[in-house]
Amino acid sequence: MKPSTRIKVTLKAAITVDGKIATRLGHSKWITGDAARQKSHQLRHENDAILVGINTVLKDDPELTVRGIEGGRSPARVVLDSKACIPEQSRIFHNDGVPVIIITGNQAPSRSWPELEKLNIFVAPTKTPDVLWIMAKLKKLGVKSLLVEGGSLIHASFLKSNCVDQLAFILAPKIIGGQAALSWCGDLKVENVNDACQLDIISITPLGDDWFISAKLK
Ligand SMILES: NC(=O)c1ccc[n+]([C@@H]2O[C@H](COP(=O)([O-])OP(=O)(O)OC[C@H]3O[C@@H](n4cnc5c(N)ncnc54)[C@H](OP(=O)(O)O)[C@@H]3O)[C@@H](O)[C@H]2O)c1
Repeated sequence: MKPSTRIKVTLKAAITVDGKIATRLGHSKWITGDAARQKSHQLRHENDAILVGINTVLKDDPELTVRGIEGGRSPARVVLDSKACIPEQSRIFHNDGVPVIIITGNQAPSRSWPELEKLNIFVAPTKTPDVLWIMAKLKKLGVKSLLVEGGSLIHASFLKSNCVDQLAFILAPKIIGGQAALSWCGDLKVENVNDACQLDIISITPLGDDWFISAKLK
């Protein structure tokens, strides 16, 4: 059963037909084309906050802003970073007046943080921030909708916490292949196919050369 949170959570990933989000070297720019990227910005605009894991920041250094959408509004940016190791020069720290939230674990070393008008550092009561604790924290901050942009480990944590409402895949007609290339979702400890997460596909829409797939958990 879904825990009692009112935050609407959407997991979003740009994937190849073999379900990969990056090569074995962590290269992911760009799996999808321009129309798909526009759709990603639209999804950001429709949410109160975007959340990523620290590995995604270290590999991709994303801005996590809304660009190219008329009247587009950038949501708050949230990074899960147990060890408080996010580099000061990361692009998410650019000062555009949008709240930036870093969630660390309770064993993170103390460090200095960039001087940013709306920077919030929250320390979770555990070594690795727990998804349900994060959801409660974000809810208190007034977040009603959250777009989770990965990577693989973060998607798995959210699915395991049973608090996902919707999935948004942008499927590129590409194959990366290889067992070392990251799949969009980390280990869910599924041993039997009958225990796999089951989805209801809501829609499949062409997006340039790619496809947008909207789904819900059964
Ligand atoms: N194609 C796409 O749509 C897309 C989107 C995003 C990312 N990517 C790719 O995905 C790759 C990164 O994915 P990744 O799976 O390696 O890492 P990730 O999901 O970005 O980050 C995982 C890290 O977040 C931290 N973390 C803190 N709290 C957590 C929690 N509750 N659950 C899980 N992790 C938590 C952990 O590090 P600490 O213990 O150090 O905190 C963990 O190792 C990159 O190569 C990037 O290019 C692709």
